[in-house]
Order: sequence, then structure tokens, then C-alpha cells
Amino acid sequence: MTMRVAVAASGRGSNLEALLRVLEADAPARVVLVLSNRSDAGALSSARALGVATEVLDDPSSADEWLERLTRHRVDLLVLAGYLKLVPPGVVSRYRDRIVNVHPALLPAFGGPGMYGRRVHEAVLASGARESGATVHLVDEVYDRGAVLAQGRVPVLPGDTPETLAARVLAVEHRLLPAVVLAAAAAGHPVPLPETVESTP
Ligand code: GRF
Repeated sequence: MTMRVAVAASGRGSNLEALLRVLEADAPARVVLVLSNRSDAGALSSARALGVATEVLDDPSSADEWLERLTRHRVDLLVLAGYLKLVPPGVVSRYRDRIVNVHPALLPAFGGPGMYGRRVHEAVLASGARESGATVHLVDEVYDRGAVLAQGRVPVLPGDTPETLAARVLAVEHRLLPAVVLAAAAAGHPVPLPETVESTP
């Protein structure tokens, strides 16, 4: 049976595009809905261009609103791909262990409230860390705390800026997230990936 996936995104949606590229017609998972808290999110345009249903949340803090939309589209798995707000606890408890998030650092380092986008990479560079990467994890009631399903590592290079590091990490996100979704579809629920995805030179 095909796993029905909803993707929530607040921004440009390159992770959504990576997922849509991998999930071809005969894939075991299909993106049936793209949700956003912002009506101008690039992710919504990408979805519409491919005929994927889109919904803009009127009140992203309303569990009832989320659940009505997820139920109506018969969603099995919710993927947060650059979704910048907290998912209401009522949604987390109803979709327990069926919500995954991609984070642009090696959790548990450089996660938590306020740690998103450029700030993550600035913090990594300021710390002097020699490597960074991407993490896909289960979502629970606390930002960036749920069980890790997969990580991919990249080196931090001399002269890196938040932008160059972000681009290196994003390339890993684009491989890691589809791999986790495909593994979830095969198992019927999200599972840890057996191997870490390494960066390509
Ligand atoms: C990604 O780096 C994701 O990890 C972070 O926000 C960025 C979203 O990028 N949370 P995109 O919207 O998928 O292009």
C-alpha cells in the first residue's frame, strides 16, 4: 500500500522538491498534501506546479485545523521540511512516531528553540566544530529532541561562511530525507536508517 505523505514547509521548499523527485509514480510513498503557515512559501508553488494539493494553515497553533486537513487527505506520515513553527501537541500525540523533521546540524548539537536557518550554521562556525551535517528525527513535543533516524556528515572547511556551509549541508538533507521516507514506506512507519549518509566530495 502506498504511504500517503504530507509535507509542511515554511520556505522555498528545496527539500520538498528533492522528495518529489525521488517519489516517482511507482514509489511506495506519495506526497498527497503540502501544508504551510505562509501563503507565499515557495514550497506551495512547487507543489502546485506538480498538481500536488496544497493547504495554507489559517492558525498553525490549532491542532483541530491540522488534524482536519491531515485526516481529510488520509495522511500516514507528516514530514517537516523547513517548517519553522512548533507543531501543536495535539497533532504530535495523534501522529505519535509518524512525524519526521529535517534539521541542518548534527543533533543534539545546535538544536532547540531559535536554532533554525542561518543561525544554526553561524553557531557551528562560531563553535569551531570541524564537522556539521544534517539530522532527520522523529518529532515530539520539544523542538529538535525526538529520536534520531538518520544523520549525514559534512566537513567544516577553512573559510566557510554560513552560506557555504548551509549549501554543503543542504545537499546532504536532499539525500537523507527521501531515504528516510522510502525506508518508512517500506517498513510501514519511520525507522532508523542502518547507515549514515556521508557527503560526496
Ligand atoms: C533546511 O536547511 C532545513 O533543514 C531547515 O530549513 C531549510 C529549509 O530549506 N530547517 P528548504 O525550504 O527545504 O529549501
